[in-house]
Amino acid sequence: MLSISNLEVVYDDVILVLRGISLDVPDGSIVALLGANGAGKTTLLRSITGLLDLHEGEITKGRITLDGEPIQKLPASRIVHRGIKQVMEGRRVFAEFTVEENLRVGAHTAKRGSTAASLDRVYGLFPALRDRRRQAAGYLSGGEQQMLAMGRALMSDPRCLLLDEPSLGLAPLLVQQIRDLIVEINAQGTTVLLVEQNANMALSIAAQGYIMETGKIVMDKPSSELLDDEDVREFYLGLREGSDAKSFREVKHYKRRKRWLS
Ligand SMILES: Nc1ncnc2c1ncn2[C@@H]1O[C@H](COP(=O)(O)OP(=O)(O)O)[C@@H](O)[C@H]1O
Ligand SMILES: [Mg+2]
Repeated sequence: MLSISNLEVVYDDVILVLRGISLDVPDGSIVALLGANGAGKTTLLRSITGLLDLHEGEITKGRITLDGEPIQKLPASRIVHRGIKQVMEGRRVFAEFTVEENLRVGAHTAKRGSTAASLDRVYGLFPALRDRRRQAAGYLSGGEQQMLAMGRALMSDPRCLLLDEPSLGLAPLLVQQIRDLIVEINAQGTTVLLVEQNANMALSIAAQGYIMETGKIVMDKPSSELLDDEDVREFYLGLREGSDAKSFREVKHYKRRKRWLS
């Protein structure tokens, strides 16, 4: 459904941050995009949703297609109309607006269905938001604000939801809740591209995982294989003590050197 090939992105005309990225998000799937801070994950999402301009960024090579049609030249509003919606990093809600007002803002781009039906669906997914619908969003907890940000995106009934680190800064129990909600949203028919630093969480629900480092995809495999991969376990899942490698590639390099020395 969503396909990215050989994408290159530059900020401020000179800073090359994405280099030859290729990634596929099949219809109905959950795909995980993992990577450390600064790898370029948010930049990739901005490229898809047409928000690079806002940040002095530009696509200098490559293609982004939705159902085979190129979308990378479309303005952000048209991309939303095509059914792709991004939930920004850091749960941006309108703090002074009530919960329900925040949700209604999300409905303004909806092209099908009524706002009432969308509200019902969102409140069904997030009962805590219904309970607080008249409260100012600024008073919600971090987890509730993340749910509100996701709920707002769902108000336009997108085909494909791009989530930028939804678990960031949340306690383990809330991370689990968010994970279950993503599964439920997907089960209701929404395709999901999930950007996460929490590799465990993301790989536990995604079919396919991509690992990004300094603007490149360094690995791309079914989640089950990534979870079994020794290097991934060591560097991204923190399942072995004592490694001070700063990057995945470095881990590989150490391993090769160790093999060579022994
Ligand atoms: N507006 C911008 N102008 C210049 N450089 C940027 C801008 N936004 C991000 N960057 C740089 O691009 C790289 C990738 O950033 P980002 O996409 O935010 O990574 P991630 O989301 O994986 O943490 C980083 O080195 C970051 O400093
Ligand atoms: Mg980011």
